Amino acid sequence: MRWSEVRRAACPGSFDPVTNGHIDIIGRAALLFDEVVVAVGVNKSKSRLFSADERIEMLTEAVRPYDNVVVDGFQGLLTDFCQKRDIVAIVKGLRAVSDFDYELQMAQMNSSLAPIETVFVPTSPEYSFLASSLVKEVATFGGDVSKLVPPHVLERLTARLAERS
Ligand code: PNS
Repeated sequence: MRWSEVRRAACPGSFDPVTNGHIDIIGRAALLFDEVVVAVGVNKSKSRLFSADERIEMLTEAVRPYDNVVVDGFQGLLTDFCQKRDIVAIVKGLRAVSDFDYELQMAQMNSSLAPIETVFVPTSPEYSFLASSLVKEVATFGGDVSKLVPPHVLERLTARLAERS
């Protein structure tokens, strides 16, 4: 490996929608690597509140302050996406020990598929309870999630839930 090579990492996820916890991990990955690709999983298996394009738009706005971060959607295997984009590492946030079992299994599966390391970054304590699913649930029942997502996400979340109610 040459010193001059760009060290590119992926921050993968569903981001339905992006939360402040995701942005914390992406921002910290941006300090560790030359370039970060936020990889939005667009496989059709799960029902989502936001379409792939909407999730990508919200993320693109959220990562605007970071000049070495880009956002892209991917279908199929994450490792195939990483290999096509010369991505050497996958960065994942760990909120609690309970995240570790599944994340370790995925990291080991991914490294068996391709020579790509997974780097675990501990979630900042203020975001350790944060998950997109909980944000959606709390917002659905009228709870205040304004400290948990960026303002532009709050606006779209509020509008989408109003459409659905
Ligand atoms: O935010 P999520 O839902 O935890 O993100 C999960 C995601 C998209 C990162 C994961 O499901 C994934 O990598 N999917 C792509 C399909 C794949 O590569 N599966 C094998 C994983 S070992």
